[in-house]
Amino acid sequence: MTRPTPVPDAPWWQGAVVYQIYPRSFADSDGNGIGDLPGIIGRLDHLAGAEGALGVDAVWLSPFYPSPMADFGYDVADYTDVDPLFGSLADADRLIAEAHRRGLRVLIDWVPNHTSDRHPWFTASRSSRDDPKRDWYVWRDGAADGGPPNAWRSTFDREREGSAWTHDPATDQWYLHTFAVQQPDLNWANPEVEAAMLDTLRFWLDRGVDGFRIDVVQCLGTEVDRPAGAEAWPLDQDWPRGREIMRRVRAVLEEYDERVAVGEVYVLDQRRLASFLVEGDGLHMAHNFVFLRTSWSAEAFRRVITEFERLAPPPAWSTWCLSNHDHSRVATRYGGDGRGPERARVAATMLLTLRGTAFLFQGEELGLPDADIPPEAVVDLDGRDPERAPIPWEPPSAAGPGAGFTTGTPWLPLVDEAESLAASVQEDDPRSPLALYRRLIDLRAATPALRRGGQRMLDAGPDVLAYRREGAGETWLVALNFASRQRRPDLSGVGVADGTLVLSTDPARREGPLDLAGLRLGPDEGVLIRLGAPGPSDQGPAPARR
Ligand code: GLC
Repeated sequence: MTRPTPVPDAPWWQGAVVYQIYPRSFADSDGNGIGDLPGIIGRLDHLAGAEGALGVDAVWLSPFYPSPMADFGYDVADYTDVDPLFGSLADADRLIAEAHRRGLRVLIDWVPNHTSDRHPWFTASRSSRDDPKRDWYVWRDGAADGGPPNAWRSTFDREREGSAWTHDPATDQWYLHTFAVQQPDLNWANPEVEAAMLDTLRFWLDRGVDGFRIDVVQCLGTEVDRPAGAEAWPLDQDWPRGREIMRRVRAVLEEYDERVAVGEVYVLDQRRLASFLVEGDGLHMAHNFVFLRTSWSAEAFRRVITEFERLAPPPAWSTWCLSNHDHSRVATRYGGDGRGPERARVAATMLLTLRGTAFLFQGEELGLPDADIPPEAVVDLDGRDPERAPIPWEPPSAAGPGAGFTTGTPWLPLVDEAESLAASVQEDDPRSPLALYRRLIDLRAATPALRRGGQRMLDAGPDVLAYRREGAGETWLVALNFASRQRRPDLSGVGVADGTLVLSTDPARREGPLDLAGLRLGPDEGVLIRLGAPGPSDQGPAPARR
């Protein structure tokens, strides 16, 4: 089996750019309106290994397993197969091979906290109190008053105050579901569950996947009968056993070469988040939702970044992302006052120049906003349809209403901006969001200081987030203006007078030699400057990519 060439000096994932694919919405090959694995294969050239590709290092695929789709695949009915909607195991093998041929690593989603209620394990478990699989899930008697065993609420049902327990009349007991009723929690205290689940990792590792994104790590290892605080709302999380389970996962990955685990550790406390990483024997990386949920403020981002770096020294490694399939997109979230497109460019520059591994969500590179979903088109049980709208590959005027995503009727409406933001429209436009992402990713790949170099935050005055990156004899400066007014950053702390402006988020800005003292940042403008006296190659605009 061909695997991408190992990176000699550091683990491949440190400094990598990982691109999240939400298979339902990426590309549809058979016209049923739902994206699929052959569709993804047909669009891999957008990502890597081809002229003009984005140049990312890896993809993370959201679940494509057989599923009743109550939570669009996060309710898994078989961990070792592919849902016919998405294709077949042979398609998954082909996808892995085609990705590897382009030097792209493949991470897949692993959903260990719960299965679908249609998983054969749960069907058996609910069939009788004596079934050998009864204890694979979390069953309890009701409370004395006939209600649920405790007051825990389901994550998806908070508004309606739905219980995290559902009564099953067949055996007159209640089962725990941290999420939807159709997503019963597995009982990780049972060693058989652990063994069976770790085997599902080996199944995919043997097929060549490079690692896993692990769903809701903070929910694993629930202790229902823990007395203190057990009645508290919201559902208590971040159980000690969760870390132990991550160590077992790591041990499985270590049976193979160069495989990696990134956790969705949804805790809004960076100390607890870092504690999953600092020992170096569990997760390699963890998504940071404190960062993702930071408001649009240079000071706020600076605080979060500085705090995390302090709490997570090596062997921990930072991971940054601003979007995924559960959150409003950056261009919308930060764009309440019409500045979304500009801010999304600043956000991209931050994400791709910070020390760490960067995760992008499909469509982020096109600057997509959230889609408007009319009430009759709503399908998600938790309001996440807007960020899951399908990718517009071509303008509807050329490709029809499916915008190159599908020849049929898309399962969710596309964004209203599909005509102007379609990938093919942005392809040759040097001012487009896509062009900016390509340049940033190219620069990062070609510049050791940016990819894995050191980082120091600077105090550049109000509204400006500024930091130095250093490595391989070069020093770079990143300065990002979070204000929608011009700012004159204080760069006296940089210690150097000259530099070369290599990239600005403002396509009208001239690149080339620059006197730092005179630098003014435009409204919502970010710049990337190579510090030091310019060399002979720095006189003109930065060279075009590839
Ligand atoms: C994670 C997923 C989300 C899913 C939930 C339950 O948060 O990202 O999409 O609904 O877990 O599996």
